[in-house]
Amino acid sequence: MKPSILVARAVFPEVIERLRQHFDVEDNQEDKVYTADELASRLQGKDGMFSTLSERVDQALLASCPQLKAVCNMAVGYNNIDVDAASRAGVVVTNTPDVLNETTADFGWALLMAAARRITEAEQWLRDGKWQKWRYDSFVGADLHGATLGIIGMGRIGQAIARRSTGFGMQVIYHNRSRLAPELEAQANHARYVGREELLREADHVVLVLPYSPALHHTIGEAEIALMKPTAVLVNIARGGIVDDAALIRALRERRIAAAGLDVYENEPALNPDFLTLTNVVLTPHIASASVATRLAMANCAADNLIAALTGAVPPNLLNPEATKGK
Ligand code: DGY
Repeated sequence: MKPSILVARAVFPEVIERLRQHFDVEDNQEDKVYTADELASRLQGKDGMFSTLSERVDQALLASCPQLKAVCNMAVGYNNIDVDAASRAGVVVTNTPDVLNETTADFGWALLMAAARRITEAEQWLRDGKWQKWRYDSFVGADLHGATLGIIGMGRIGQAIARRSTGFGMQVIYHNRSRLAPELEAQANHARYVGREELLREADHVVLVLPYSPALHHTIGEAEIALMKPTAVLVNIARGGIVDDAALIRALRERRIAAAGLDVYENEPALNPDFLTLTNVVLTPHIASASVATRLAMANCAADNLIAALTGAVPPNLLNPEATKGK
């Protein structure tokens, strides 16, 4: 008998077909976002789950699904999963690193450029029929070339963002849990390691790429924003909760920083409605990794992990080796 899995959200049909070669698959191609109770009920008797960042996998869910052996997230981030609780329950957890680095870095730049050069604000104005004449100061924004780029979170995506800055003749400063090896700093446009406060003070623009954990909640709040230059752009492609959205809204409204480019929000998809009243923020719906090729690669990576996990192999992107001792 094949192991049984739940694919918790809609995914590429070819990936479902691939999974069907190995598993009895319950899919969700109508893409309903399950409540916690619905998810627990769908997972009854299932050996594995192909999850996304929308499914909360906590102690309560794990306790209600004793047969579950693997949760394979189609995302590099896995703050939707209580990995310690999964390990205690003997449930292996995997993510999809690497395949999205370059696409996500591209998107970080897209947000930075759009916010610095006021692209969405100008487009909206044009679409509203307001363009009657050219003016010397219409939608003047900030230059990126020659500026100092501050990157907080210098993992693989942060480094890919830094590499792209060479074409803009920028200097890169970064802050990270630990300093990179000298050869990685050299590849990342000779990025210079600095303290977080120094970065916020010195950077012309700041990009956030750090993973979320409760200890990093509101890493950027009122006090941190106060250190930034009034001409600075803040880009968040990390996770909601890294930034205190209410503090950022106040700062943008009072023009204490120039602009922001945001792909992630506290409580998304229910973002703070005050964002919608601001013209100096570019807002996108958590799509930094959303190129066709990369989303397909992420889905296949999650499928590879699930196939390995439920056929006795070590999944390529295992996050909790300790779990394998459990079941
Ligand atoms: C990730 O992979 O963590 C992204 O945020 C989802 O695309």
